[in-house]
Amino acid sequence: MKIHKVDLEKTVAYPDQYPTSHYPEFALSGRSNVGKSSLINAILNRKKLARTSSSPGKTQTLNFFNVNDDLYLVDVPGYGYAKVSKKMREKFGQMIETYLESREELKGMILLMDSRHKPTQDDVAMYQYAKYLNQPLLIVATKIDKVKKSQWNKVVKNFKDTLELDESDDLILFSSEKKYNIDALWQWVEDKKNN
Ligand code: GTP
Ligand code: MG
Repeated sequence: MKIHKVDLEKTVAYPDQYPTSHYPEFALSGRSNVGKSSLINAILNRKKLARTSSSPGKTQTLNFFNVNDDLYLVDVPGYGYAKVSKKMREKFGQMIETYLESREELKGMILLMDSRHKPTQDDVAMYQYAKYLNQPLLIVATKIDKVKKSQWNKVVKNFKDTLELDESDDLILFSSEKKYNIDALWQWVEDKKNN
């Protein structure tokens, strides 16, 4: 993907603030510190477009990154799992639920999980929520540069087994640090964009 124009077009708290251009949208979700902002910067080839925050859970808005006037990457704070537990539901917030459950432009979800650990309970819950939403799903195992190559197969197996992935789910190993699999990520987005 050639990036010729990109900006953080909108930070949104309410549905009446969503962009009106109808470009396809892709939501990025994952636990704090998993590497979401870093991934956005890496795939857009910008160092500080998305702020990498040291205080977890600080982002309270949906951040719409306009890419080439062609699509939006949407940075989604925190986790959903509305159907899973009350505590989580409170955390997730009505704003995010409303967005993920009703946004017509949403064409897929990109779920980030740390490749150094088996997916956590939270990760599993997030995955199940995404399945419930019935969106095309890309699981991104982040920070793979921190895992020895000889262990990469094990990462894939752990993810598949713990999440109980099904055939339609895609999984990539990814590193923002090493710029690994950026093309694969864009390929997936391109594939889903026109569906
Ligand atoms: P919140 O904004 O708190 O939700 O976190 P985030 O998911 O946006 O994570 P962020 O991109 O800020 O990255 C968190 C930490 O992980 C930072 O110290 C990054 O430098 C580091 N990090 C992110 N991606 C990678 C990667 O691919 N490899 C390595 N080694 N470190 C990474
Ligand atoms: Mg961030």
